[in-house]
Amino acid sequence: MLLVLSRVSLAFQSLRKVSARRWHHTSLINDLINNMDKKATWDRFYTENSKKGNFKNFEWFFGFPSVKDYILPLLQSMSDTPAPLHVLDIGCGTSALGPGIYTHSQCAVKVTCADISPVAVRLMQEHAESTPVQPCNPASTLFFREMDCTELEGHFKPRSLSLIVDKGTTDALVRSKEGQAKAGQIVQQCLTVLRCSGSLLQFSDEDPDARLLWLENECQNSEAAADVSVHEVGELRGVTYFCYQITPYTAQH
Ligand SMILES: C[S@@+](CC[C@H](N)C(=O)[O-])C[C@H]1O[C@@H](n2cnc3c(N)ncnc32)[C@H](O)[C@@H]1O
Repeated sequence: MLLVLSRVSLAFQSLRKVSARRWHHTSLINDLINNMDKKATWDRFYTENSKKGNFKNFEWFFGFPSVKDYILPLLQSMSDTPAPLHVLDIGCGTSALGPGIYTHSQCAVKVTCADISPVAVRLMQEHAESTPVQPCNPASTLFFREMDCTELEGHFKPRSLSLIVDKGTTDALVRSKEGQAKAGQIVQQCLTVLRCSGSLLQFSDEDPDARLLWLENECQNSEAAADVSVHEVGELRGVTYFCYQITPYTAQH
């Protein structure tokens, strides 16, 4: 428990700069520690963060540069037709991960950044409109959508997505009081909307001993069987981070 709290508090170091009113940000941190699966918690978090004025991407753990070497070659290897690959960032918050994929992917991508918090989605949308960037591939597109990612099937066709990225979202859910079941639902939904040999990449600080077991269990409960593997991303402020890759294979075999 102590280890979990110290990791959560590491992720909150940036947050501590958000509010000058100590009681207020302590209450926000408490809310985050207990209720990271709740829309209201994140609306509050992104509202507080935006009060500083000029928009700045907030990154859980690390940003796009730390993970681009996992994502860009994977996309390149999937790009077998000129049609854009559909990429989804689940629980995008105000991270620059989705926009980074859109900007730097050499193959055409349709990137959807999705979050349950309308505040985060509005901030991202406004920022993209006020500071447009040119994608590497002119056929690439970028969208921001308010969405509960436990219900992906209501938004995407089965087997339609090539890549789903999750930076910190599953971690947030599994560490909140009522979030564990939601995290499982998200994995199940990802396995349904991912195309065969597409991938879900979870960037996480959870140890492989715990996460691999949990993921393998979730995959067994799914109609689509999946391969699960893990790579070490590296260390940041004394914490080791991992990339868990989940690749469905059953349906088209
Ligand atoms: C730990 S933050 C990570 C944000 C971002 N991925 C990053 O790297 O900075 C978790 C995010 O998941 C979002 N979230 C929580 N539950 C969600 C759900 N059911 N569907 C979609 N987004 C959700 C929160 O609003 C929050 O932005």
